[in-house]
Amino acid sequence: MKPLNEANVLEALRQVKDPDLHRDIVTLNFVKDLAIRGADVSFTIELTTPACPVREELKAAAVHAVRTSLAGVGAVEVALTSRVTAHENHQKEQVLPGVKNTIAVASGKGGVGKSTVAVNLAAALAQEGARVGIVDADVYGPSLPLMMGITGRPQVKNQRLQPIEKWGVKVMSIGFLVDPMQAVIWRGPMASGAVKQFMSDVDWGELDYLVFDLPPGTGDIQLTLVQTIPLTGAVIVTTPQDISLADARKGFAMFQKVNVPILGLVENMSYHICSHCGHREEIFDSGGGKREAEELGVPFLGEIPIHTSIRESGDRGRPIVLDTARTAESGAILKIARALAAQVSIRNAARQAEPAIDIRLMP
Ligand SMILES: Nc1ncnc2c1ncn2[C@@H]1O[C@H](COP(=O)(O)OP(=O)(O)OP(=O)(O)O)[C@@H](O)[C@H]1O
Ligand SMILES: [Mg+2]
Repeated sequence: MKPLNEANVLEALRQVKDPDLHRDIVTLNFVKDLAIRGADVSFTIELTTPACPVREELKAAAVHAVRTSLAGVGAVEVALTSRVTAHENHQKEQVLPGVKNTIAVASGKGGVGKSTVAVNLAAALAQEGARVGIVDADVYGPSLPLMMGITGRPQVKNQRLQPIEKWGVKVMSIGFLVDPMQAVIWRGPMASGAVKQFMSDVDWGELDYLVFDLPPGTGDIQLTLVQTIPLTGAVIVTTPQDISLADARKGFAMFQKVNVPILGLVENMSYHICSHCGHREEIFDSGGGKREAEELGVPFLGEIPIHTSIRESGDRGRPIVLDTARTAESGAILKIARALAAQVSIRNAARQAEPAIDIRLMP
């Protein structure tokens, strides 16, 4: 046991490793405001996201490390805060200067629950304390007005569209602006033009995560869109059936083609929980998403059950993740949101660790 002083507390905290970033919390510069008053120790751990999946474990490990390494320790008080790391990207700085990270939610196939997953992830991240926005990049079939329960029209202030805030999330959808029947006949360039405007002409302010709900498929329109948006990464939604998994592979290939990292795969409508007896039934061959993720070498973020409550919450305009009584569904989604936030942090840390190109060496 070492004597209690600042240097020894920091030394002890070097035993605490972030399991995702694979380094200790002192090296990562997470430890702030260290103070020792008599025998009492207090400090703050600043995480890279408020939705950190291991925040309680890190806190417990930090308390344990201080208690077991140092002599005569009284109370150990640990506060958790966060500062979301940003995806540093030149194109993003140009079009979305206040937005730290951009996440596309995509699928190779329609109707697998992209919009459901997108709104729930956005609401979950907001609920965890992050500043979140969501864009309906599916101009042909905008779902966000219904799924977020928004009927109003966005206001214009200083010649910029103001996103509409609901459930703690800033929302923009073509459905707020034009009759949905009108957009259906738009050509590809108009669709990507609208999404471009949703980046440049909308006053997003400061955001940690901006989620894009993409239209289904991997055609020209989708390809143009993913090149238009400076993306931190993409989430691919699939259902457990083989056909949908094959489509997920197409989605994966599309993002690979344009060098957008896959933050992970989500398996939706994975299994059914009986409303009466709670029995879990694998309607389709569940587990396919996980196997697929392993094969593709991308993270598996988790699975969401199929349940009428999820469809109803979409129709009612209140994301199910906000419904704490529906623990099986909301818990599954919250876990996925945290895993996603962790993947964004991992990506940003990896990018920072990449050696900068030394231009002096260029001919
Ligand atoms: N886990 C689930 N349990 C029950 N219903 C679900 C689930 N996920 C999605 N749904 C329902 O399935 C339908 C399709 O979902 P959603 O609109 O999110 O899919 P999508 O992939 O965005 O579709 P599109 O390709 O048309 O954009 C919706 O009615 C939605 O409420
Ligand atoms: Mg959709």
